[in-house]
Amino acid sequence: MEAFWIWTKAKVNSIDMFSKPVSLTYQGREKFTTFLGGILSVLLTIGFVSYGMQLSIQMLTRSATSKAKNSIERDQILVSDYYNFSHEDLAFAVFIATDDSFVPFVDPSYFNVTVAQLSYSYDFKSGALNADLKEESMAICRENFPLLDHKLDDFRNFFSQISYCSTQTDFSFGGSVFFNTLKTVQIKVRRCVNETSVICKSKEEIEAKARDLTVTFIVSSKYFDFDDFETPIKRVVDDQFIFKMSSGLKKFSELYVKRSTVALSDSLLPLGEDKEDSFLTIDNYQKDQETRDMSDPIFIDLEIRQDLVVDSYERRVYSIPDFSENLENSLNFFQ
Ligand SMILES: *[C@@H]1O[C@H](CO)[C@@H](O)[C@H](O)[C@H]1NC(C)=O
Ligand SMILES: *[C@@H]1O[C@H](CO)[C@@H](O)[C@H](O)[C@H]1NC(C)=O
Ligand SMILES: *[C@@H]1O[C@H](CO)[C@@H](O)[C@H](O)[C@H]1NC(C)=O
Repeated sequence: MEAFWIWTKAKVNSIDMFSKPVSLTYQGREKFTTFLGGILSVLLTIGFVSYGMQLSIQMLTRSATSKAKNSIERDQILVSDYYNFSHEDLAFAVFIATDDSFVPFVDPSYFNVTVAQLSYSYDFKSGALNADLKEESMAICRENFPLLDHKLDDFRNFFSQISYCSTQTDFSFGGSVFFNTLKTVQIKVRRCVNETSVICKSKEEIEAKARDLTVTFIVSSKYFDFDDFETPIKRVVDDQFIFKMSSGLKKFSELYVKRSTVALSDSLLPLGEDKEDSFLTIDNYQKDQETRDMSDPIFIDLEIRQDLVVDSYERRVYSIPDFSENLENSLNFFQ
């Protein structure tokens, strides 16, 4: 024990650089240097101590983490931006199933599921509203639909074989008709028509089938979790948009995509810059309206538009009580 103590002391002494003699022996200079060094040391010490105290006071006086959500409704006339998105940000899938037992139904000889990027442009001279429509068939999802972030491989395999997804990855919506720039995305479930390589069932068979089916519109988007300090922006898969198909009836609905911005300054020490991020989500939709115009035989018609409401989330500080609670949870987790 004694030997260990002597060894430790020797080690510490050898580390202490300041114990070494300072050999600045120019006439009269030695004193001056020491004086300046002393002043600097005192100033540095005062600086560090007061900074440390300031940090501690800030940390201790935080009562709780401040969490704020604000919604702003933008003026439609002033909106001119687009929300561009890929599968990672926002993905859609269409799931057709029998009404009573939810048995998947993916027979292309009955229905054609399409997605379209629609760009309206307003001709100021003639007053005409022109629509440019880029439409394509949706295909069985496979890898095109990001599910929840945790492992759900069985579900993914099952799900990706029974739902329709777009094969195109980039869409855009937003803008304003006042600026000649409106873009929306449309998803439609149509009756199969004998114009392609697919040989369709008869019109009567298709209409009869439609009476037994529901169409679930599944959205993979993101949401903000105030209580998560590691990955506060999480993926959510929402399947609440369900439509009952009807024969001889078009059901129309609008879904609004909202952009949320996130500002985080939640390190334990009140240091560093704010972290900023944004994500897209759908939490607003207009319940379906029915029309009887079946000249273009559409059963389901969904229009996805930019929401004029923008949400902003702010998590300002990370309080000592929150920190200790989190720590406690982590420790419990590891026990
Ligand atoms: C989104 O796409 C449009 C074209 O559709 C483009 O003009 C715009 O700059 C893009 N916006 C961003 C933020 O990438
Ligand atoms: C589905 O409908 C779209 C738009 O009318 C068309 O371009 C496409 O060829 C159709 N696909 C099938 C398989 O019928
Ligand atoms: C498509 O063609 C098949 C075979 O020619 C026919 O039996 C069916 O009724 C047609 N379906 C439609 C919707 O035109």
